[in-house]
Amino acid sequence: MSGWGGGYVTDIPYSVGWYRNQSPVRIALASIIGGAEAHIPNGDDPVMMLELGCGFGYTAMALAASNPTWTVFGVDFNPAHIAAARDWAVEAGLTNVTFIEADFSRWEDNPALRDLPGMDFVTMHGIWSWIPPAAKTGIVRLLGAKVRPGGLVHLSYNAMTGWIDMLPAANLIREAGNRAGGASDHRAAEGLRLVRDLIKAEAHNLHGRPAVTSRMEMFENASANYLAHEFMNDHWAPCFVNDVATALSEAKLEWVAASELTENFPELVMSEAQREIFHRYPDRMMQELVKDICTPRALRQDVFVRGATRIRPSERTALLMDVSLTLTKPAEDLPESLNVAAGKAELNKAFYGPIVRALATRPWRVGDLLALPNVVGKRDNPAELIAILTGADMVEPTLRPMTPPGPDAMRFNEVSARRMIRKGSPNGMLAIACRPTGMPLATPLLGLVLLYHYRNGITGVEGLIQAIEPDEDKLTEARTVIVAFLDRHLPAWKNAGAL
Ligand SMILES: C[S@@+](CC[C@H](N)C(=O)[O-])C[C@H]1O[C@@H](n2cnc3c(N)ncnc32)[C@H](O)[C@@H]1O
Repeated sequence: MSGWGGGYVTDIPYSVGWYRNQSPVRIALASIIGGAEAHIPNGDDPVMMLELGCGFGYTAMALAASNPTWTVFGVDFNPAHIAAARDWAVEAGLTNVTFIEADFSRWEDNPALRDLPGMDFVTMHGIWSWIPPAAKTGIVRLLGAKVRPGGLVHLSYNAMTGWIDMLPAANLIREAGNRAGGASDHRAAEGLRLVRDLIKAEAHNLHGRPAVTSRMEMFENASANYLAHEFMNDHWAPCFVNDVATALSEAKLEWVAASELTENFPELVMSEAQREIFHRYPDRMMQELVKDICTPRALRQDVFVRGATRIRPSERTALLMDVSLTLTKPAEDLPESLNVAAGKAELNKAFYGPIVRALATRPWRVGDLLALPNVVGKRDNPAELIAILTGADMVEPTLRPMTPPGPDAMRFNEVSARRMIRKGSPNGMLAIACRPTGMPLATPLLGLVLLYHYRNGITGVEGLIQAIEPDEDKLTEARTVIVAFLDRHLPAWKNAGAL
């Protein structure tokens, strides 16, 4: 491992991915749902946003392309990431995103970073539990200096409670990997091979443990780059939420909410008996610790605010009633239930059915949706409506309803598709940048690629099959995906204003 990484993987680049919880709109919504004042960006607000550890900058660029009045900064210490991100932004013609090469532990040495004004939003995904102590204290200094009063911070990290069963395996992967030598991706693969062999040999502390089995299954399909960055860092350490909150309090930041919106509703996360214990504590940190003990979540995504102003429930309701939503999937995709930590949350058809059918015609204000005459159910809980429909991936909050598609967004989608066709294998989801929503629309790589060919004049099933050249044995599957794209996803994306 090179000296300049301070123990973080630098020989293998990370992979490209879209993380919707990093969006300022989602962060502000979470804060309001958590009962703390926040300003949800409006149509042409000049939002200032900073992403720490931006990798190839895809999330930062998708947000910048969808919101031309925002000013977005991405920071990463890996020059390979920053060079590629800058190149991508130039090719896409994005002038509202800037990428800065800097190390968190010494960020004050970088004039571009030192001179940044106060930020409305700072976000970091996949950083905190993977970096050395000096980088963490650097981040806290940066947040203390650059988050404006009232500004919001989103932070994701491996949760100690959810990782506990997997800790011995993670330690073994790193140790065995380092002994194998070679590049970090090779080391991670060798370490994982050892854990698989030990599971097969029924090693007591690995075999038959559901948390280990499910994570090992997930790693089967993960990219080699992801696995290198997940396992081969010297200082990786999952954290407890109270320890993260204590560290961030140095920057005057206070925990206010989970950025995965459904996680803010105890009834969606815990059983009745667990909720009784949760409610014994008025203090939010104790409540979060109880929640963590009760759920298997391995990644926490938290929202902090610098100077929280608590809002009354009536004010919270009023703010959320004013949010506009856009349907991003066909109305018939509304699921019967949603998988949540507490099990399955049934979606009442008499309530959600009319709401989703209305949304299929145009974007709607939440308050107007809840006033629809044919809605059967509680009309006074906009927080739950927003959390459930975004949790089901059916809607996105919408900043500029009924406005035309943005040229910046469409160009970014075209350039991103071309680049991803060349590079392949993203980490998880990508996104279609979309100006009317201001919120990029999540899609797997193939959706982005099909949109690219469609916009370049290939509009029929056979033409699209030829364009994507599937393997012979994948022809039937490819045809099904293309028909779904043409009949269902494309109309939903048009409805959202992406094209
Ligand atoms: C796991 S990746 C996550 C990238 C991106 N946020 C994402 O989720 O796709 C962590 C990123 O943090 C960067 N990083 C790690 N340590 C850093 C440091 N001390 N200073 C700046 N960047 C750092 C790495 O180069 C890498 O791009």
